[in-house]
Amino acid sequence: MTKILLVDDRPENLVALEAALRPLGQDLIAAQSGEEALRCLLNDDFAVILLDVQMPGMDGFETAAHIKERERSRHIPIIFLTAISRELHQQLRGYEVGAVDYIAKPFDPWVLRSKVAVFVDLYDKTRRVEEQAAQLTRSNRELEQFAEIVSHDLRNPLVSVVGYLQMLADGSAGELSGDAKEFVERSLRAAESMGTLIDDLLSYALAGKAVGTLRATDAGQAVDRALSNLHADIVSAGATINTKTLPVVRADSSQLTRLFQNLIGNSVKYRSDERPLHVDIGAERESDHWMFSVVDNGSGLASDEAGSVFTMFYRGSSAQGRPGTGIGLAICKKVVEGHGGRIWAEPGDGGGTVVRFTLPAADGGAHN
Ligand SMILES: Nc1ncnc2c1ncn2[C@@H]1O[C@H](COP(=O)(O)OP(=O)(O)OP(=O)(O)O)[C@@H](O)[C@H]1O
Ligand SMILES: [Mg+2]
Repeated sequence: MTKILLVDDRPENLVALEAALRPLGQDLIAAQSGEEALRCLLNDDFAVILLDVQMPGMDGFETAAHIKERERSRHIPIIFLTAISRELHQQLRGYEVGAVDYIAKPFDPWVLRSKVAVFVDLYDKTRRVEEQAAQLTRSNRELEQFAEIVSHDLRNPLVSVVGYLQMLADGSAGELSGDAKEFVERSLRAAESMGTLIDDLLSYALAGKAVGTLRATDAGQAVDRALSNLHADIVSAGATINTKTLPVVRADSSQLTRLFQNLIGNSVKYRSDERPLHVDIGAERESDHWMFSVVDNGSGLASDEAGSVFTMFYRGSSAQGRPGTGIGLAICKKVVEGHGGRIWAEPGDGGGTVVRFTLPAADGGAHN
């Protein structure tokens, strides 16, 4: 039940208010002075306060001023109850006490009830939205933890499955018949791709933890590390990678390496059979951040695909027959957003793919 606070020094007025509002079916709390009202507000949350203006001791305006001073109660709407007069009308309008409305005494119960009902409704809806937001944050955190734990715990048994399969495959347990050998090899390949999936899931879960460890990081060095990790693939693809001079950004350096590695790795994996692969990596300054681009002349994206490629497990038309789990770009998105940036993809001009992302500049724009 939602609470409504009724404040009036006269008991008969409180009775009249209660009678008018009872049909709303809410919890009506009565206070006979400003002081008592402030005490009620210490412990409870209210959807709306009905506040008599003329009271001995602390009057309605003073009470309202105190209510607005306190963090806990400052957002609660106040409806003043007052005998209407010209001066009061002016006073209420000019008074900066945050009244949302006022009602003239003697009041019409129907008008009072409908005004209060609006605030009760607003309060209930706000609460629901807040609860949903908190629930979402909780589920997100739980999901990340879940992915992290599951991938950790799945990895160990898988290592021993792969180990034993390998021993079977290379004959350590005696020669296998033709069929058995093939079955073992298939199992081994399946177990290995399961290992990749688990590693990718773990990376995805960890990618959200970038925030908090950001420091000035040379993007050029991150690209060099990514290129060295991809060296064998780049050489066997006969690819040319052009890196312009890259800036220093505020980033987590191992996540930045992973980001470039996933993007350049994609360019290599999804290269075209028709031309040698060229990849250009560059960055342009835009106010307080840098916009990076990884441009390739590979098999390209369909125009309706550019928005989907960052979705977890999405594999595009170019992915047919090539290994992968569809997590790489989801990780990139998480890394970039964890750094406060944006990432998007576009089909390149002459075929191929352009991926752009932004990262905060290390100098935060102070020198530009
Ligand atoms: N440079 C690129 N050129 C063409 N297609 C691309 C490129 N990068 C990504 N894609 C398309 O986007 C899809 C999603 O990419 P993503 O990196 O997320 O997954 P993946 O490469 O399929 O698997 P993973 O990276 O998890 O091993 C790919 O399956 C591919 O179809
Ligand atoms: Mg990939």
